[in-house]
Amino acid sequence: MPTALVTGVTGQDGSYLAEFLLQQGYKVIGMVRRTSTINFERLKHIQRQIEIVQGDLLDQMSLIGILQDHRPQEVYNLAAQSFVPTSFSQPVLTGEFTALGVTRMLEAIRFVDPQIRFYQASSSEMFGKVMEVPQRETTPLYPRSPYGVAKVYGHWITINYRESYNLFGCSGILFNHESPRRGLEFVTHKITDAAARIKLGLAHELHLGNLEARRDWGYAGDYVRAMWLMLQQDAPDDYVVATGETHSVQEFVEEAFSYLDLDWKQYVVQDPKYYRPAEVDLLVGDPAKAGAKLGWEPTVNFRQLVRLMVDADLQTLQNNEK
Ligand code: NAP
Ligand code: GDD
Repeated sequence: MPTALVTGVTGQDGSYLAEFLLQQGYKVIGMVRRTSTINFERLKHIQRQIEIVQGDLLDQMSLIGILQDHRPQEVYNLAAQSFVPTSFSQPVLTGEFTALGVTRMLEAIRFVDPQIRFYQASSSEMFGKVMEVPQRETTPLYPRSPYGVAKVYGHWITINYRESYNLFGCSGILFNHESPRRGLEFVTHKITDAAARIKLGLAHELHLGNLEARRDWGYAGDYVRAMWLMLQQDAPDDYVVATGETHSVQEFVEEAFSYLDLDWKQYVVQDPKYYRPAEVDLLVGDPAKAGAKLGWEPTVNFRQLVRLMVDADLQTLQNNEK
């Protein structure tokens, strides 16, 4: 039975990846940082099937200790400070987690077992002010937030350790992917949760920032499969994972509200509080390489994604009311 270590296992992607790896027959070690209250909400259905260990990307020795104790063949580095607005208010902390945290894990791998295969959660946010449409693996990077800058560092240090030390390091450049397990501060879940609340009479308005930003939104369950496929190849490489379709925040709002027979214009308030110091206006990825080399393709389209998130929020809120 192969063993995989997943950092960020309590996050959206960590929970889907842990589920997927269990289905593939892996022993899954999930790294969590110490908190005063347990936050295993996204893991509760599989908590007994995975082994939870304490470690922190800020603490080099904790990473070495975990690798020595559990001897994984694969490491998926999903842990990060992943919310772009927080990266503007806490840029140094974001750099410590999201950038230097990658080096700490790579150093731990080099020290304990250089045969370990490593996946780095890179991001389309690295393309920022896009230099090419659609964005592909070769598109020059131009990040627009401290988060994006930190991810560029993580991306390049992964490539550097591959080229310098021959590590099996892959960087997955994933475009936005969403699900009912998405954090509520991200725009998609904020919209579907608010639409469901408004439908049930639990809320009356939704404050949003820039409605014109465009994103290539896919389903998180599809994207974790691509992570695993990257580590099963003969040679390490970098891949864009995306749907190839782009939609504006407003289109997401329209789709969610109209699905519930609501007129979004009556409820949505544009609020400067949610504007960012620098914005990423347009993201749309070209997943051709992932398709050709990994045989990967998305199974959930934009409309299906919006609807499955709205349905899940309605269900949760109705259950809470009972
Ligand atoms: P998420 O829901 O915000 O989860 C982040 C995870 O990182 C959480 O488990 C968090 O733990 C953990 N973490 C944060 N700081 C840590 C530290 N210092 N030590 C150990 N763990 C730490 O993010 P996600 O959406 O699942 O994304 C997973 C990864 O993919 C992230 O690296 C993100 O930047 C990247 N990414 C995401 C997307 C996307 O659209 N979702 C696209 C491209 C790339 P707590 O539960 O304790 O906070
Ligand atoms: N969060 C949020 N809240 N975003 C808003 C709002 C709002 O009220 N109103 C408009 N937006 C716009 C943002 O300005 C941005 O252009 C877009 O909606 C998407 O914002 P987020 O959902 O916060 O995601 P993101 O694109 O900034 O970052 C996500 O995707 C990256 C991949 O491209 C995160 O998951 C990152 O971790 C990930 O790397």
